[in-house]
Amino acid sequence: MTARRVAAVVAAAFALNGPTGPASAAGPTTELVARGKYVFATAGGCACHTPPDAVGLNAGGMKFDLFIGVVYSRNITPDPETGIGAWTDAQVTNAIRRGERPDRSKLFPIHPYKYLGNIADDEIEALVAYLKSVTPIKSSVPARSLKIPVPSLTIPAASKVAPRDGLARGAYLAGGAGHCTECHTPRRFDFSPDDAKFLAGGPGPQRSRAANITPHGETGIGRWTETQIALFLRTGVKPSGQEASSLMKTVITGTSAGFKDLTEADAAAIARYLKTVPAIENKVR
Ligand code: HEC
Repeated sequence: MTARRVAAVVAAAFALNGPTGPASAAGPTTELVARGKYVFATAGGCACHTPPDAVGLNAGGMKFDLFIGVVYSRNITPDPETGIGAWTDAQVTNAIRRGERPDRSKLFPIHPYKYLGNIADDEIEALVAYLKSVTPIKSSVPARSLKIPVPSLTIPAASKVAPRDGLARGAYLAGGAGHCTECHTPRRFDFSPDDAKFLAGGPGPQRSRAANITPHGETGIGRWTETQIALFLRTGVKPSGQEASSLMKTVITGTSAGFKDLTEADAAAIARYLKTVPAIENKVR
């Protein structure tokens, strides 16, 4: 989206909400919305909320057919009836980071709040401003049906300010907005991540087979250089020349933004972090 388009969308959102609407009296600044779009990129464009057959950006409806029931990704556009338009910024923040909806119901943790809960205050504020700036779409998604209660997770408070660079930034992105861990760490039967296989790949969401991205030489990506990993995140091309497929392609391509829009510094920080996690032997393919 060009700066002009962002400005136009902000103006439109402001006109819709009016001075007394959920946006603050002055309306979010174009700068805040642009920063929020970048946070959205680091989250892979929140691509589960825009499945290929979605009505439009963030309109939801991706079906997760799990052995414990069926869940659909929700409409997170600023439509007041079917989306998040009537929620305050604090309510949107709570849903993203803690899985708590304004009506006190809990989101099923297929919405990766275990990781999104790490998004720092300064970045979540921007992300929420961006989510509220896009076109509202009226579209209801089917209700979920679960055979088990929603598991309760303890979500530690996020930090106020996101790390700006270096290894800390890489760990923050991989274990936060980028939610690499969500897909690349297999789950146990109770749906909790199997940390003995941290980032070692295996069965992932939507019947995907997530790769082993630990530095293990034969079964992981130990032979990739940091530059190659960073390049892959921004282009989807592997050192072998092969292209990313499945859900990895989805998060790299993203929606209005995705991993492909990561800055060189952020992609390099994630690559550097991946080199520091324990190498685990786990042959996925
Ligand atoms: C929505 C799920 C999902 C998320 C989020 C995700 N991945 Fe992946 N990733 C996959 C799947 C599935 C594959 C296997 C497909 C492929 O290799 O093209 C994969 C493949 C990869 C590969 C290729 C490894 C190889 O041996 O070919 C790398 C590297 C990678 N992911 C890194 C990351 C990093 C780093 C992040 C976080 C910034 C991340 N992924 C987030 C699902 C995901």
